[in-house]
Amino acid sequence: MPWAESLLFLLFFSLPIPSSHAWSFDYPSPIANLPSLWTNNNATIPYSATYPDGSKIRAILVRQNPAWYGPFFGCGFICTTPCNAFLFAIFSISIGDPSNPTFNTSSMPRIMWTANRSRPVKDNASLQFTKDGNLILRDFDGSLVWSTNTSDSHVVGLNLAETGNMVLFDIMGKTVWESFEHPTDTLLIGQSLRQGKRLTSDSLATNWTQGQFYVTVLDNGLYAFIEADPPQLYYQRRFNITDALVQPKMNISSDGAKNYTTYISFLKGSLSAFVSFNNTDIKLFDISLPSPSSAQFMSLENDGHLRVYRWDVARVKILGMKINFSVNWTTGNLTWAAP
Ligand SMILES: *[C@@H]1O[C@H](CO)[C@@H](O)[C@H](O)[C@H]1NC(C)=O
Ligand SMILES: *[C@@H]1O[C@H](CO)[C@@H](O)[C@H](O)[C@H]1NC(C)=O
Ligand SMILES: *[C@@H]1O[C@H](CO)[C@@H](O)[C@H](O)[C@H]1NC(C)=O
Ligand SMILES: *[C@@H]1O[C@H](CO)[C@@H](O)[C@H](O)[C@H]1NC(C)=O
Ligand SMILES: *[C@@H]1O[C@H](CO)[C@@H](O)[C@H](O)[C@H]1NC(C)=O
Ligand SMILES: *[C@@H]1O[C@H](CO)[C@@H](O)[C@H](O)[C@H]1NC(C)=O
Ligand SMILES: *[C@@H]1O[C@H](CO)[C@@H](O)[C@H](O)[C@H]1NC(C)=O
Ligand SMILES: *[C@@H]1O[C@H](CO)[C@@H](O)[C@H](O)[C@H]1NC(C)=O
Ligand SMILES: *[C@@H]1O[C@H](CO)[C@@H](O)[C@H](O)[C@H]1NC(C)=O
Ligand SMILES: *[C@@H]1O[C@H](CO)[C@@H](O)[C@H](O)[C@H]1NC(C)=O
Ligand SMILES: *[C@@H]1O[C@H](CO)[C@@H](O)[C@H](O)[C@H]1NC(C)=O
Ligand SMILES: *[C@@H]1O[C@H](CO)[C@@H](O)[C@H](O)[C@H]1NC(C)=O
Repeated sequence: MPWAESLLFLLFFSLPIPSSHAWSFDYPSPIANLPSLWTNNNATIPYSATYPDGSKIRAILVRQNPAWYGPFFGCGFICTTPCNAFLFAIFSISIGDPSNPTFNTSSMPRIMWTANRSRPVKDNASLQFTKDGNLILRDFDGSLVWSTNTSDSHVVGLNLAETGNMVLFDIMGKTVWESFEHPTDTLLIGQSLRQGKRLTSDSLATNWTQGQFYVTVLDNGLYAFIEADPPQLYYQRRFNITDALVQPKMNISSDGAKNYTTYISFLKGSLSAFVSFNNTDIKLFDISLPSPSSAQFMSLENDGHLRVYRWDVARVKILGMKINFSVNWTTGNLTWAAP
């Protein structure tokens, strides 16, 4: 079977980070209150940068990394050259000299989440945080591109968290909507992919349209498919729910065990699968990953491989072998062992 290849993990090292700076920088702010309106042009969103290849970002919120060890996260508009189409996105950014907080344009931004990658917008598109707590993206001509659909949920603010999660919260501080619940092609540390949801690759490195590969969690396993009719399976790792629930731990019958949901979480040092039953989360399996010394992300790429990236000081180190991996010491690629 030509697609019966394993998913690969690749460690990637970039973004040298100043080691310690007791310096605070959240610009313009990591939090926005409603109502707010941002228009995609450099007059309204002055906190912007142009990169050597012509890519641009216009950040509406920036959250510093408190450890200064790893990237900052920003959300706003981003485009690649020739910049006639923008996405509203969450991206990693590098800030140069702390005493002069401007973007370090030697380090390219990396998109972690997008509002609607199949529908890029133009200059003068708008992002509106309405009085009733809805976050709405419209193109320059007013056409609706995306919204959080949270008008009836008593939202009072928008926060870009240190983890890279964009959160709409209510007056009690409770999360009403979060980007972590709507993954695109990337998972950040602490993020989960819930049953029925997908990570979908981009079609090309230079084209954000949805590609043909997706990873999904079903009630009986973790699967990777190629979009087709019918979808072609190229990776699977099945769950044994019966084993997890009916065994002495929970003492329930196999009939009683039917009402559950499954998910995988990208944690520090592992990709773990869980079953959630009756408000209890039970671990199904761990796929060990090299322990992070700094921020990491995991991305389903346009060749169908799931890769783990991390930021580190400019030093390449291949991390230790773990039981679920075979490590190719030549390339540093980590390959999932057959399930
Ligand atoms: C703002 O955008 C205009 C038109 O796109 C451009 O001519 C101008 O140089 C930009 N200004 C800054 C500060 O980037
Ligand atoms: C900016 O990023 C480049 C490339 O990652 C790095 O070599 C350089 O030291 C950084 N500059 C500052 C001021 O951090
Ligand atoms: C964006 O809107 C401003 C103000 O209305 C206008 O001056 C500018 O020409 C518009 N830019 C584009 C590219 O349409
Ligand atoms: C993205 O835009 C497309 C085309 O306008 C639309 O069909 C789709 O529903 C949008 N997706 C989301 C998540 O808003
Ligand atoms: C928005 O939410 C309402 C009710 O919560 C739902 O009926 C509707 O389908 C949602 N629309 C979208 C585009 O998700
Ligand atoms: C991106 O890919 C889609 C689908 O293959 C194509 O229709 C679109 O023109 C491409 N966009 C760019 C900017 O190349
Ligand atoms: C799940 O585990 C139970 C008990 O260990 C075993 O009897 C059953 O065959 C397993 N099911 C699958 C599909 O592996
Ligand atoms: C599990 O349930 C059975 C029957 O309801 C009961 O006899 C047994 O003591 C229970 N075991 C535990 C560990 O609760
Ligand atoms: C299944 O679980 C959900 C959430 O815990 C609960 O609301 C629902 O009533 C349960 N359904 C059944 C059939 O037990
Ligand atoms: C769900 O949990 C509650 C409290 O922990 C317990 O009383 C109840 O029996 C559990 N239900 C099932 C179906 O296991
Ligand atoms: C490791 O990768 C190299 C280069 O792709 C390849 O030649 C070699 O066969 C691989 N080794 C193993 C054990 O897979
Ligand atoms: C390892 O990763 C590199 C970089 O993505 C890739 O070029 C290479 O083909 C991979 N090696 C194998 C054996 O898959």
